[in-house]
Amino acid sequence: MKALVLNAIEGLDSVELKDVAVPALKAGEVLVALKAASLNHRELWITLGQYPDMVPAPFTLGCDGVGVIESVGEGVPAVRIGEEVIIYPAQNWGEDPRFPAPEFGCLGMPGPGTIAEKIAVSAAHALPKPNFLSFEEAAALPLAALTAWRGLFTKAGLKAGEKLLITGIGGGVAMFALQFAVKLGAQVFVTSGSDETLAKAIALGAKAGFNYKDESWRKALPKVSGGIDVVFDGAPGASYANYGRALNMGARVVVYGSTGGFTFPVHAPELFLKNINIAGTNVGNLDDFTAMLAFVNEKQLKPVIDRKFTLAESIEAMHYLKDAHGFGKVVITI
Ligand SMILES: NC(=O)c1ccc[n+]([C@@H]2O[C@H](COP(=O)([O-])OP(=O)(O)OC[C@H]3O[C@@H](n4cnc5c(N)ncnc54)[C@H](OP(=O)(O)O)[C@@H]3O)[C@@H](O)[C@H]2O)c1
Repeated sequence: MKALVLNAIEGLDSVELKDVAVPALKAGEVLVALKAASLNHRELWITLGQYPDMVPAPFTLGCDGVGVIESVGEGVPAVRIGEEVIIYPAQNWGEDPRFPAPEFGCLGMPGPGTIAEKIAVSAAHALPKPNFLSFEEAAALPLAALTAWRGLFTKAGLKAGEKLLITGIGGGVAMFALQFAVKLGAQVFVTSGSDETLAKAIALGAKAGFNYKDESWRKALPKVSGGIDVVFDGAPGASYANYGRALNMGARVVVYGSTGGFTFPVHAPELFLKNINIAGTNVGNLDDFTAMLAFVNEKQLKPVIDRKFTLAESIEAMHYLKDAHGFGKVVITI
């Protein structure tokens, strides 16, 4: 079968679409004939070795996938053959719902990747695809929507009516956070480096946007918003100093990425006098994934797709994500 393989951890030039063996099915697994996958920034970083605990190359990339169950391993009812499924993008969360176990990881490193014609996954991780979504739309969901869901609801406990700030709204995770929060009835404020992206976010329901390339957003945010209850931040190094002053009493700041720098200064009196909580979040467990899918189904939420590529064009898709990515997810039809 064809798969997008990272041959060596030496950047995008080491990625190749090539023939690999069809995965062998173990007890409790299903073999999914993949119909669509989507890209995340993590695939680019994996090619550069910028993840802890990198497994040795070669391996197949991709952690988002949807498809049709083609065959089942021992112990899985054959009636599941033919089911359209969306795959939980991670493995080995462990027992504690508060945080993942040391063995936790995502598909596409260290697990098998989804940018391939087939994948073998635990039957419990192949959930019903929302049937109002196309394969491409559903493939946009797994990692980005799960990360946004857990960050906003499991970690921050966002409520309808609260004021939420999302940084870097052009990102895939941020975009799902915007869609979820708008459907919930929160008041959403966003930042971006692009005025065009800000306009698209406002069209999706954001109340106002701030271009982070213009430092005056620091002063504009408290005036325009009247204070922020929850922040969902993938770039705290570039953002925290600009929104810290605007945080309300009891605000929750959830950090899910480190775009724009690994550290950020926190004003200690602001933190303790306002009783602010800063939390980190990492992907999500199977319960978060199930709850996210239930919300998507209930609200009939349609992911925004920036551009579609075929499997044969998947290397081009990765270059597009790196150099020219716009607003929404980059999807690969398989
Ligand atoms: N914790 C987790 O479980 C988890 C899961 C997935 C991803 N992540 C992390 O989340 C981050 C985003 O991932 P993604 O897949 O959504 O990436 P992506 O779709 O490629 O988005 C990256 C976005 O970062 C924004 N950005 C760049 N510089 C910024 C700055 N100075 N201030 C604010 N925003 C800035 C940009 O937003 P604009 O285009 O609007 O300027 C850009 O679109 C990455 O750090 C990734 O590693 C974490």
